[in-house]
Amino acid sequence: MAESWANLGIDLHLEPAGSTGLRQGLTDALRDAVRGGRLAPGTRLPSSRALAADLGLARNTVAEAYAGLVAEGWLTARQGSGTRVAERATPPATAPAAPVRHRPPGRPALSLVPGTPDLAAFPRTAWLQAARRALATAPFDALGYGDPRGRPELRAAVAGYLARVRGVRADPDRVLITAGFSHALRLLAAVLRARGARTVAVESYGLDAYTALLHEAGLTTTPLPYDELGTDTRPLGSEDAVLLTPAHQFPMGTALHPDRRAAVVDWARRTGGLILEDDYDGEFRYDRRPVGALQDLAPDQVVYLGTASKSLAPGLRLGWMVLPPALHAATVATKGRIDTCGVLDQLTLAEFLTSGAYDRHVRAARLRYRRRRDALATAVTDRAPGVHVTGIAAGLHAVLRLPPGTERSVVQAAGWQHLALHGLSFYRHPAAATAPLDALVVGYGTPPESRWTEALEALCRALP
Ligand SMILES: Cc1ncc(COP(=O)(O)O)c(C=O)c1O
Repeated sequence: MAESWANLGIDLHLEPAGSTGLRQGLTDALRDAVRGGRLAPGTRLPSSRALAADLGLARNTVAEAYAGLVAEGWLTARQGSGTRVAERATPPATAPAAPVRHRPPGRPALSLVPGTPDLAAFPRTAWLQAARRALATAPFDALGYGDPRGRPELRAAVAGYLARVRGVRADPDRVLITAGFSHALRLLAAVLRARGARTVAVESYGLDAYTALLHEAGLTTTPLPYDELGTDTRPLGSEDAVLLTPAHQFPMGTALHPDRRAAVVDWARRTGGLILEDDYDGEFRYDRRPVGALQDLAPDQVVYLGTASKSLAPGLRLGWMVLPPALHAATVATKGRIDTCGVLDQLTLAEFLTSGAYDRHVRAARLRYRRRRDALATAVTDRAPGVHVTGIAAGLHAVLRLPPGTERSVVQAAGWQHLALHGLSFYRHPAAATAPLDALVVGYGTPPESRWTEALEALCRALP
């Protein structure tokens, strides 16, 4: 497609302005591209038909945007030579100045990018109460440099919670407190590499930040196949470890199939390979009982990894892992000689867990997210019958399967609604053999309650 929008190389998301429709969004983006010099004078633009097809828009929308910019003097349209950027692309003296659109202050762009819970719903009052109690009762030596494993109060609270809620076999002595999952994975990657490990199997779909982190440690990643039953662990062979999201595949949203749970545990027992179990949002399951942790099946082979990033807030930078005995000393040593996680937040989280405030918060959050999930499913089914909502039994995101070939244009159309959105291709391992699927990964937990309906509406407008 010689005349495609992609060939123009324009970033349409540069200066999103006001809350506008598709035509206005396209007009603004084109005007910005001309004004900013990214579209040079004389550049020929794609025909309205070609651009409309490329962007998944109605032809009229593009034609109207072009006509508006011709009237403003940014573009010229001549029979036979198409639409071009005006040679002196400045507005004619008589034309009204192009409106400069500013978002009202305090109204940031909307986001349905997964990964962040509703930060406005952080339980501030309960957290403050826990912080006050924790500090009031902490022994003075708690304020020293501390044990690199983390505060004993938090390790005991986490062990109790994980055993009760996630079925993890957790001895507080085998719990290590970390600054979130990413920190834990970095530590484990260093330990594995120091032991001579070379390769870690990962899922075909996942976060590139984590594969990058493994690569930075000198490890190679190989993607496991993904099919209609989810990640396939049966081809595991000579890899040293595997990184999995068994309870809720990120981002596809499926639970690891029972046969494949058994297969990965067999592989680990047979080969001595290590399973890194990323249980990032195990608390949020809606339609049936939570899927128990894999760790319980092979505690000597599994490192269980959890985080407060979804259940509370990523800014806390608090996570935990439960280590097999053989890996414990090396991982603690890699964390360092002193604790690198702030003691006051650790004590507060310990108090939050043991007082029952964490359970209460998770229960309330689960209800709110469930309502959003149901609203999303209903709105998409009603307004975009060609789009299928999947992966919604758990978590804070859904996968919306799109008609083939439409993912990129839907993400762009969302950008014009000032809605940040990720397509599934963003999460696909570059070496994945799985055929690419057109889909959106919609983080319905992300917007604050006050902007949820607006975000959902913008999403529906962008859908084909
Ligand atoms: C798959 C997955 N694992 C883990 C995490 C949590 O990472 P962290 O604890 O470093 O915030 C996230 C957060 O987005 C995630 O999506």
